[in-house]
Amino acid sequence: MRVLLTGGAGFIGSHTAVSLIEAGHDVVVVDDLSNSNSESLRRVEKITGVAVQFIKADLADKSEATAALERSDFEAVVHFAGLKAVAESVQQPLAYYRTNLDTTLNVLDVMRSRHVTQLVFSSSATVYGSPQTNPIDETHPVGVGITNPYGWTKAMNEQIIRDVQSAWPELSATLLRYFNPVGAHPSGLLGEDPAGIPNNLMPYVAQVAAGRRERLRVFGANYDTVDGTGVRDYIHVVDLAAGHVAALLNAAPGLSLYNLGSGIGYSVLEVVKAFEKAAGRPVPYELAPERPGDVATSIANPARANSELGWRTRLELEDACRDAWNWQSKNPEGFRRT
Ligand code: UFG
Repeated sequence: MRVLLTGGAGFIGSHTAVSLIEAGHDVVVVDDLSNSNSESLRRVEKITGVAVQFIKADLADKSEATAALERSDFEAVVHFAGLKAVAESVQQPLAYYRTNLDTTLNVLDVMRSRHVTQLVFSSSATVYGSPQTNPIDETHPVGVGITNPYGWTKAMNEQIIRDVQSAWPELSATLLRYFNPVGAHPSGLLGEDPAGIPNNLMPYVAQVAAGRRERLRVFGANYDTVDGTGVRDYIHVVDLAAGHVAALLNAAPGLSLYNLGSGIGYSVLEVVKAFEKAAGRPVPYELAPERPGDVATSIANPARANSELGWRTRLELEDACRDAWNWQSKNPEGFRRT
């Protein structure tokens, strides 16, 4: 299959490019590089030995999207492109709604006019808002307790895709709700490259271990969890990438929906311990107030993806810590200075 990856130069997109190529597919990447670096695609080429076609374009711009996608042939789309920083979305709601919704509308328009009928959408466990139960399965209500515009753009994009699919039944649309992607490619060539201060736990911990930041602030120590700190379902990005390949091959026809997670939760302090062990270095931390909008616990029930997609996580938290540390050590400045 020839697969278009929107936002394919980013963290999850670039790892998915590797998995798709290794499974024998061709990939075309479109990315505006607003929060990524085309060096990631050179690394994909280095890992796979296969050239990646790259088109630089902002898909939120209708004419740019149409022009960019006219130049290439593809039979399926994996749509990652979008803004993703939760706190920034609270500060800049218009930018988030405009970029994340327009991009999806334009991708769907182009697919429709080109008769491309297979879509996989990069959604998020954030659509479950403040979860009523854990582990969370796909029947859990969506939208209740979403606390930020980023989360709403994921929920709204899911709704847009549902509505388009019911008006256009030939469209096979798969919504993948990711839990917490972490880790890096085991080669040390690809990994997460946040601009500025990392928002997410594992890249922050990696920078503390490397001595780039003094100490981690642990947001909240009084949650109703094993040790009072927030619990999440961390999924190795290589497993997550494999989930996209499985979805392209095995998803149920029509509209389908899958959680991608491991089913296991770890607290912030358990992640710190695991990282210290993997890196062989201390990760100093201090307890800090809860981060607004955070939930105590978010753990996937991945049973549907396990049975229908024939997919399950294979890697553990310790693999993710080892690979994130390898990436951090080999690329202290991310893709920028290599
Ligand atoms: N945390 C800290 N200190 C930090 C960063 C995070 O203690 O410096 C804690 C958080 O409070 C939370 C846990 O580490 O308990 C994980 O936080 P992340 O920011 O890594 O991840 P989130 O669960 O907040 O968010 C992630 C993605 C979102 C997505 C959401 C879905 O970043 O894009 O999962 O649940 F929407």
